[in-house]
Amino acid sequence: MKKLVISTGAGMSAESGISTFRDSGGLWENYPVMDVASADGFRRNPRLVHDFYNARRRELLKAEPNAGHLGLAALEKDYEVYVITQNVDDLHERAGSSNVLHLHGELMAVRTVDEPYRVYRLDPDHADTSPESRDPEGRPLRPHIVFFQEAVPMMEPAVELVSQADVFVVIGTSLVVYPAAGLLNYIRRGTPVYYIDPNPAPVPEWVHVIRKGASEGVAELTRILTSQYND
Ligand code: OAD
Repeated sequence: MKKLVISTGAGMSAESGISTFRDSGGLWENYPVMDVASADGFRRNPRLVHDFYNARRRELLKAEPNAGHLGLAALEKDYEVYVITQNVDDLHERAGSSNVLHLHGELMAVRTVDEPYRVYRLDPDHADTSPESRDPEGRPLRPHIVFFQEAVPMMEPAVELVSQADVFVVIGTSLVVYPAAGLLNYIRRGTPVYYIDPNPAPVPEWVHVIRKGASEGVAELTRILTSQYND
């Protein structure tokens, strides 16, 4: 089976009603990113950061996977599929994708503030957290999110996956946040690359751009892959 590695960003979940960051009306227009999503911001005002992610969780708990998420899960019938996502939502998992690597953490989890950290899943019915939240041993908890100014520990396994891809697909990301935006640099020479985005960032001319939203774009990708590999 061909190995498909798919890198997704906020645009993947836009049709599920989850706000993106940099589109007009996106989250970073309304919230100063360095206050709500950076290591310094968390030190300065942890309550603001907890509240920001509490709001993101409430938005997520109302959302459902869209046809794009479902289409990627369906590709597992014919391909070995690995999803590398910058998204902190769990919509790929809920759509049925088996191999999901979260580069920037997960909304429905918390971790201890201290290193080495422990990760705990959140109960959807009690998903709000605050600076007073503690683990069973009394240690302070924080959102399980990779803040700006922090390292991206999952980058290494992500690079490994990309370097083994037979086909690499990028969906719904503005390709401005590193190191995630650099994943494209790790493909093997000659690997076909598809990029689904209605407003794509500039990419080299050998990238096949599918200028569509995630749902329609994944349907088109599926048709292209079928004609290339399964006819
Ligand atoms: P951005 O908000 O920067 O970019 C969203 C992308 O999705 C843009 O390229 C849009 O054109 C595209 N888009 C919009 N609607 C779409 C649709 N229906 N289908 C497909 N694509 C669509 O989001 P990211 O690139 O994911 O990190 O942002 C990267 C990181 O920056 C995030 O993981 C987050 C943020 O700060 C952290 O918070 C650590």
